[in-house]
Amino acid sequence: MPRLDDRQIESLVSAAWEARLNAYAPYSQFHVGAALLAADGRVFTGANVENASLGLTMCAERVAIGAAAAAGVRSVKAIAVASVDDEVTVPCGACRQVMSEFSPKMLVIRCRPDGTHDIMSLGELLSSPFTGESVDKGKNPPREPVGAA
Ligand code: THU
Repeated sequence: MPRLDDRQIESLVSAAWEARLNAYAPYSQFHVGAALLAADGRVFTGANVENASLGLTMCAERVAIGAAAAAGVRSVKAIAVASVDDEVTVPCGACRQVMSEFSPKMLVIRCRPDGTHDIMSLGELLSSPFTGESVDKGKNPPREPVGAA
């Protein structure tokens, strides 16, 4: 599991709160910011971007991952997520899968509105991700269904 020092964690937490200011959430009014630390030391941020179709809404985490990946990042140490929830906001299932594509063991820093945070591993939040290994297995020629005559 990646190790971060207090200074790195605090800077991700504050970048996530700052990114939240740019959330576009006119439909839910639920503003979310995310900030990730790439393995190469760069920081990328994202905010949720909603759409009138609702279904096309992009979560803050996936916006941040997309920005990082488009800049060449393939390994992420940690991501901080900030929103004003009763407790903390956890990345949704779709975001967990997208985050796992690059770093299944990245740290997830969940920021609370009172300024505190807690840290989990993505492995705890998504213990059985779908991976490229399954895709490779699916490339085999189709087999007869079990039990076919
Ligand atoms: N949302 C995020 O951006 N990240 C999460 O982890 C949970 C949900 C957004 C999507 C939508 O714009 C709003 O929060 C309400 O679901």
